[in-house]
Amino acid sequence: MEYKNLTEHTKIPVLGLGTWEIGGRMKRDTSQDKESVAGIKKAVELGYTHIDTAEMYGAGHSEELVGFAIKDIERESLFITTKVLPEHLRYNDCIKAAEGSLKRLKTDYIDLYLIHVPNPKIPIKETMRAMDTLLKQKKIRFVGVSNFSVEQLKEAQEYTENKIVNNQIEYNLFTRHSGMYNVNIESEIIPYCQENEIIITAWRPLVKGRLFKEKNKLLEEMVEKYDKTLAQIAINWLISKQNIITITKSTDSEHLKENLGALGWNLSEEDIKRLDEEFS
Ligand SMILES: NC(=O)c1ccc[n+]([C@@H]2O[C@H](COP(=O)([O-])OP(=O)(O)OC[C@H]3O[C@@H](n4cnc5c(N)ncnc54)[C@H](OP(=O)(O)O)[C@@H]3O)[C@@H](O)[C@H]2O)c1
Repeated sequence: MEYKNLTEHTKIPVLGLGTWEIGGRMKRDTSQDKESVAGIKKAVELGYTHIDTAEMYGAGHSEELVGFAIKDIERESLFITTKVLPEHLRYNDCIKAAEGSLKRLKTDYIDLYLIHVPNPKIPIKETMRAMDTLLKQKKIRFVGVSNFSVEQLKEAQEYTENKIVNNQIEYNLFTRHSGMYNVNIESEIIPYCQENEIIITAWRPLVKGRLFKEKNKLLEEMVEKYDKTLAQIAINWLISKQNIITITKSTDSEHLKENLGALGWNLSEEDIKRLDEEFS
């Protein structure tokens, strides 16, 4: 595994396992439990240590499956990220949400706890106070946000004595400027995070499979030149960038292996630029 610095003393893997649709979408779905648990276990066996989940995923069932899959694995060897729902951002709700996640994950602490999506109806001051409490109680190790603009990041940072170390945003070869929640991704959010030493986790790195459906000459050239797959090129392009890490979702052992093959080599500076321009 390769790492980037989350803080001065803590490293975070450049590639983690995403779990959206593992255990359901917005509702609990138990129909694939066996395959899902096997997939998560396989990922850890192959060397994934960062697992990204959320109380939203499968209405908590994704966290339960992660908890079940990792129950015999040394906790300290893993880095677990989970997220609080935007409707749970009141002080008491946020504390309760974190406790619910801990229970489902069957762990004493969450490595990185993120506000999943900003909620303008709830004062961020309240949420950040809850995050400070959770940090003090050692229920979470680090606090972060997701889908936050620069303005929202600055406001959240104002209300906590702790550093916001992460912003998880939609970012991939095809989504460069505006996505589901954010605009000005490359012009504002990424440079701000880079300047302020905030790790950016790029979600949907494989464009949820769309990457494999659209033909592109330059990508085909890169596949040939580096003898790598499309997924490996797309992941390597992301992690070649300062302060950016990513999380790919897969329960397929061949895909899990393939995605790890995005590490240990580098696209050339020139080819990164060509990809930057091609999809700009
Ligand atoms: N913070 C947020 O608001 C937010 C929003 C969305 C997602 N996320 C996080 O980001 C993670 C990743 O995003 P995502 O799941 O939306 O999309 P993604 O990782 O870009 O794509 C996942 C899809 O690609 C397939 N896949 C994976 N590796 C492959 C490969 N090498 N070749 C071909 N197909 C491959 C997977 O199927 P198989 O299982 O069959 O491999 C799955 O259908 C999520 O799981 C979640 O943890 C966060």
